[in-house]
Amino acid sequence: MARTVAIIVGSVRKDSINLKLAKALVKLAPSDFDCDFVRIDDLPVYNQDLDRSPPESVSRTKSQIAAAKALLFVTPEHNRSLPTALKNVLDWVSRPYGKNLWAGKPAGIAGASIGAIGTAVAQAHLRSVLGYLDVPTLGQPEVYIHFSQGLIDEHGNISNETTKNFLQTFMNRYAAWISEYN
Ligand code: FNR
Repeated sequence: MARTVAIIVGSVRKDSINLKLAKALVKLAPSDFDCDFVRIDDLPVYNQDLDRSPPESVSRTKSQIAAAKALLFVTPEHNRSLPTALKNVLDWVSRPYGKNLWAGKPAGIAGASIGAIGTAVAQAHLRSVLGYLDVPTLGQPEVYIHFSQGLIDEHGNISNETTKNFLQTFMNRYAAWISEYN
């Protein structure tokens, strides 16, 4: 049976390097993965007043997360933390109180940056938030991609063999690890 994996890209930018990385990871996923990209660019700013009757975009996102067996976050770093759009979807899907739909779903984390430390600080902050949301996270290997021009194209093709082998190792480990939860 197919395993539905929700892919949450922390960038809403059309030419996002993290979207390229996410597409590369999807290409390296085992054949029983059903990868479902979660749209986050049309979610309004989180507002607790709307918890009980959320806008359609929020309901759609919640349904996607509820249907997923596992999560894969692929995110940039913004000002040494996770991007606003990513924190926003984490907040929406965690509420109303007592109905946190993230809970118990195993998550992998990866990120790409044009900077030298490749999203390490953003990922540390994300792990902290996910811990509170009762989301177990894969510890190793950590995926901090220092993105150089042409490393991954818009279809997810990887030009560097070492990077490709490393991402394949990550994907294999992630696929085996989430089996412990499903
Ligand atoms: C950045 N960038 C960045 N990079 C980094 O390594 N650490 C950081 O703290 C930041 N901060 C930051 C803030 C803001 C507001 C922007 C727009 C950018 C640079 C970042 O790595 C680069 O823009 C990537 O291309 C972002 O990823 P996407 O959107 O292409 O996936």
